[in-house]
This record gives sequence, C-alpha cells and structure tokens, in this order.
Amino acid sequence: MLSKVKTCALIGVEGFDVFVETDIAGGLPNFNIVGLPAPSVKEARERVRAAIKNSGFHFPSQRITVNLAPADLRKDGSAFDLPIAAGILAATGQIPPDSLGGKVFVGELSLNGETREIPGVMAIAAFLKERGESGKALQLILPRGNAVEAALPGGIAVRGVSNLLELAAYLKGELTLEDPEADLDYILAGERKNSQPDFKEVKGQLVAKRGLEVAAAGGHNILLTGPPGTGKTMLARRIPSILPSMTLEEKLEVTKVHSVAGLLPKDKPLLNQRPFRSPHHSATPAGIFGGGRNPRPGEVSLAHLGVLFMDEFPEYSREVLEGLRQPLEDGEMVITRAEIAVRYPSRFMLVASRNPCPCGYFGHPRHMCRCSEAQIRRYRIKSSGPLMDRIDLHVEVPSLEYNDLESGQKGESSARIRERVETARGLQRERFKGTAIDCNASMSHRHLQEYCPLGKEAKNLLRRAFDSLGLSMRAHDRIIKVARTIADLEGKKNIETPHIAEAIQYRSEDRKF
Ligand SMILES: Nc1ncnc2c1ncn2[C@@H]1O[C@H](COP(=O)(O)OP(=O)(O)OP(=O)(O)O)[C@@H](O)[C@H]1O
Ligand SMILES: [Mg+2]
Repeated sequence: MLSKVKTCALIGVEGFDVFVETDIAGGLPNFNIVGLPAPSVKEARERVRAAIKNSGFHFPSQRITVNLAPADLRKDGSAFDLPIAAGILAATGQIPPDSLGGKVFVGELSLNGETREIPGVMAIAAFLKERGESGKALQLILPRGNAVEAALPGGIAVRGVSNLLELAAYLKGELTLEDPEADLDYILAGERKNSQPDFKEVKGQLVAKRGLEVAAAGGHNILLTGPPGTGKTMLARRIPSILPSMTLEEKLEVTKVHSVAGLLPKDKPLLNQRPFRSPHHSATPAGIFGGGRNPRPGEVSLAHLGVLFMDEFPEYSREVLEGLRQPLEDGEMVITRAEIAVRYPSRFMLVASRNPCPCGYFGHPRHMCRCSEAQIRRYRIKSSGPLMDRIDLHVEVPSLEYNDLESGQKGESSARIRERVETARGLQRERFKGTAIDCNASMSHRHLQEYCPLGKEAKNLLRRAFDSLGLSMRAHDRIIKVARTIADLEGKKNIETPHIAEAIQYRSEDRKF
C-alpha cells in the first residue's frame, strides 16, 4: 500500500514543503529511504522501526520504500522520524490514511516511541502560516515539548503529541488534543530584567555614553578606543539596558533564528529582548559566521536586530575581522555549501572595543607607551581600512581624573537614556512605515535623498570634512545616517548643521592616532 505524509524542511530560516511517500510491497524484508537523505535521515530507519515495534504496533516484514520528495533537495536532521512513522502506520492501515490530510508532521522519535523536540519548529510554523494555503484548517503535529514554540507565529493549529500511541489515537479520533495557544499571553508579555547593570554606575565618560546612546537609537556600529581599565567593557555591558524594545514582528524574526539554532528556552520561547552576543576573541570563524555541514547560524546571525559585542577587537583572527565586512554590509550571512547557499538574517549593531596600541597607553597623558611605531601600525592595521569604514562612531574612552572618581555625582540612569532612545526609534518607525527599513542604520544610499535632505550650510560642512578627512563615499553616507539619528534624538524633523558636525566628529577620532 501507498501513503503520503506532508512534512517540512528548513534551509536556514526558510521552510520548504517535503512529502514523505511510503510504499509497502511484497518481497524480501527491506527498509529504504531515498530522496537525497543525509546520514542523519538514513538513521531514521532504526529509530522508526524500534519506535513502531516498542509502541505495540506491527512493523511490516516487507519491502518498505520511503521517498522524500522533492528528491533534489538535501534532507538533514531527525525531524523526519515522525512523518516516516506516520506514513508506515498509514500504509499498513494501523491509522486511517485519510486522517493525514491537512496535517504537517515533524519530530524526532526515541526508540521507545516517545517524541523528542527538534530545533527550528518556530521557523517551520512561520513558514506554514505565511504560505497560509488552508489557514486555520492546517495542523502542525509535532513533539509536545515543541508545541508552545510552534504556536508563537499563530495562524495555524498546533498539536503536540508525547508518543506514537498518542499520535495514532488522535488520528483515529479517539483523543482530543488542545491548542497550546492558551499560555501565549504569558509568553508574549514582555518584561525587562531589573538586575541588568545600569549606566548610572559608570563615572565620567560622557562622550562615550553619548556615543552609545546615538548608536543604540539608530542601530549604528561603534568602536570604543582607550587605555586599560577606563570602562570600555563596563560601558558595553550596559548597552542592553538602553536598547529600544522590539515590535512583535521583530521579536518573531529574532526568535526564528534562535529557534533554528535550538537555543530557545522551553517555557518561554519568545525572545523579548534584543540579543546581546559577546563571543570571545578566540572564537572560530564557523562560530562567528555559522557553519557545519547543515550550516547553523553563527554569532552574527544570533545577534540579528541586537548587538554583537567584540571586546579586544584586534585580538580576533584576521579571518574573523575580514569576514565581518560582508554581513555588516548586506545585513545577512550567506553560507555557501556544495549543494546549497544558506542565508541567515544578520542585521546587528557592532560594538567593538580596543586599546590604542598593544601596551595600551598610546596617547595617555601620564603613562609612557612602550610600543614601537611598527608595532602600533601592525596592531591597528588588523582592524583598519574597509572594516573601520563600516563603523559609524569612533569614540575615545580616556583615562579618568581622580576627581571624576571621587565625585559622588551619579551618572544618568539607563532608564532615562532609554526613554530618549525609544522616542528616537519611534520617530524612525513612523518614518520608515511600510518599508523594510527598521532603523536609520539600515537605510541604503538611495534612501538618503528621500529621508535625509540637507540644508546648504550642512552640505558645505560635510563637503569640507569629506575633502580634509579623505572620507569614502560609504563614510559620507554613514555620517548622514548618524546625523539623522542625532536629529531624531532631539526630535528635530530636519537634519541641521550641528547634527552633521557631531556626526563628523565621531568619524575623525581615528585620524588622531
Ligand atoms: N568610568 C568608570 N566608572 C566606574 N568604574 C569604572 C570606570 N572605568 C573603570 N571602572 C572600574 O574598573 C573596572 C575595569 O573596567 P573595564 O573592564 O571596563 O576596563 P576596560 O576599559 O575594558 O579595560 P581593558 O582595556 O583592560 O579591557 C570596572 O569593572 C569598574 O569597576
Ligand atoms: Mg575590557
């Protein structure tokens, strides 16, 4: 007998329809899976056979052929166990074949027939919802532990099963299963952690704080340069406390990437806060950019719509630093493999920190720098040129005076800074409504004319800076975007000369050394 079960595969965060066709025919007992299965899918044979037998079902001693269609798409992972088992049960008449209509099955099986969670179900559910062919009538059947995560996008019915027996009972109409939607309110309710470190603990460093405020408000990349122990790491760690909140759509977009990486917490799978990723400088390129045979998202993608913090920037390998250029420019990471190109969204805000030289004291008012000119050049060249060009704000974090430390004066609290950031981001949402742009930093060159017209005086100032600082076209555009954010922070409709002036000042920092 023949049966056909619908399932879904992922390439990156994109979903694809896959059909599991099962044929059971006479002949020597045999169990074959065809249709470009990766080794992990071939292993499904052993799991499915054991799961069916150990659940008390009959496993046919016949010739079983399972075809995963379309055959040209490589199938990877353990998510095909459940649809293959359902296909065999239907082909042998142990569940009614017509009960499979309008249902999509995904999930791993253990040898005793229990279902096991798989990564990526939120991305699968979002794909099924988007395509929306049969709306609410479409049911996604998956492991119970995945049900809440799959229900996040909404728009489709989700049914979680604990084991094969439950699946069969449900398909025979002997068991009703509940929609997990009930708990969603709890999950969707966003809240900020109160224990986050706060900007008010940072003494002095007003310029750096201002730079971080501008960066957070417009999603700009920022580089902090300064001698040891002046608070660079401390400042960067406080960025999450001033990042603007996300819309529900943005939360779902971020959650999708983390779902594919299998990183979502089970009880509260929606990411409510912008990601803040801080990979160590010993991280491999695969860890940063994503990799593996079935490429998983790397840090640049896990930081999507959030922050990628790279402390001790020049310590990262040359390959990592150069590799950053592509996602920084395109907002997505493309990982190319022999058969496929996998894309992960990677629109992040880069926050980097470094010392001015290997010993850390170049330009320090009281410390002697022990580095040779060549050493300094080598240190700086690691993160120079094209990469520096993509960093909008270069900010100095100088050594503090004793008075700054002693003064009981508290810095501004994160809550107050965040208020301004939220207002500025609100203006940006209004401005870019109906477009794919989410913040000033993601404008491209052609958007500048429409959204960022400059007055004559501002233009002149920019021209002078362009010539005297030897700026690139990219730097020119980035200055205008930063100026737009500075104007937004002031609630100004037009970009004015002081806004351009401040934005230029963040670019000229690097010339000093
Ligand atoms: N501006 C500051 N206000 C309050 N405390 C500070 C400040 N700067 C430094 N500190 C204190 O010094 C410690 C070290 O600072 P931090 O690790 O941020 O330095 P850094 O600039 O990252 O240095 P390095 O270049 O060596 O990485 C902090 O944990 C904090 O206790
Ligand atoms: Mg540090």
